[in-house]
Amino acid sequence: RDVAVLVPAAGLGLRLGGGTPKALRELAGEPLLVHACRRVAQAPSVAMIVVAAPPAEVDAVRALVPGATVVPGGATRQESVAAALSAVPATIDIVLVHDAARALTPPDLVEAVAAAVRSGLPAVVPALPVVDTVKRVDTADRVLETVDRTPLRIIQTPQGFPRQTLLAAHAQATDDHTDDAGLVERLGHQVHTVPGSDLALKITRPLDLLIATALLTAHPE
Ligand code: C5P
Repeated sequence: RDVAVLVPAAGLGLRLGGGTPKALRELAGEPLLVHACRRVAQAPSVAMIVVAAPPAEVDAVRALVPGATVVPGGATRQESVAAALSAVPATIDIVLVHDAARALTPPDLVEAVAAAVRSGLPAVVPALPVVDTVKRVDTADRVLETVDRTPLRIIQTPQGFPRQTLLAAHAQATDDHTDDAGLVERLGHQVHTVPGSDLALKITRPLDLLIATALLTAHPE
């Protein structure tokens, strides 16, 4: 077991028992964060899960995911990832950054990303082909061109890196980033893709919740 999985869940939207917190929005009676961590923990390579929680909610999140290490998050997503990263011991070589909203991500995808990093790649992201026709428009919504979708990919999480590479990327980062592979890309490293999964969809809109509920029935645990 040589993998740590970081889950930044310290966003301002996160409030236990109120509002519509993204990571704590419920799917089949359990918070998305709980679903996500359960599946990640089933991946044989995973040694630890580190959740960045809102500083005031650390104890509450700890109670929800007792198997995880819970740390106080920062003011931005990037600071929350950095806070989680500092809880990873030097004995761990591979670090994955995962989105709690991708609650049904299968353990197999976690393993595939980890294995690709273990094989020597500096950055690995799950990717899916674009199935819809894509057009570029101007500010008045008039079509400028139809884009060739063949080389386009939808990127999911977990995104995987050697621990040192992610540390270096965060040490150099200036502005806030929602995409850790983008930070590593800016360091000049080649980012690689592995095939993504329909189960790793980001559950944000009401439609996603409906789809996820159906997927959960088809793919329990
Ligand atoms: O708000 P936004 O969509 O950018 O958040 C993306 C993810 O980053 C969410 O899971 C959120 O909980 C997390 N985040 C964080 N710490 C922050 C802000 C956002 O962990 N300070």
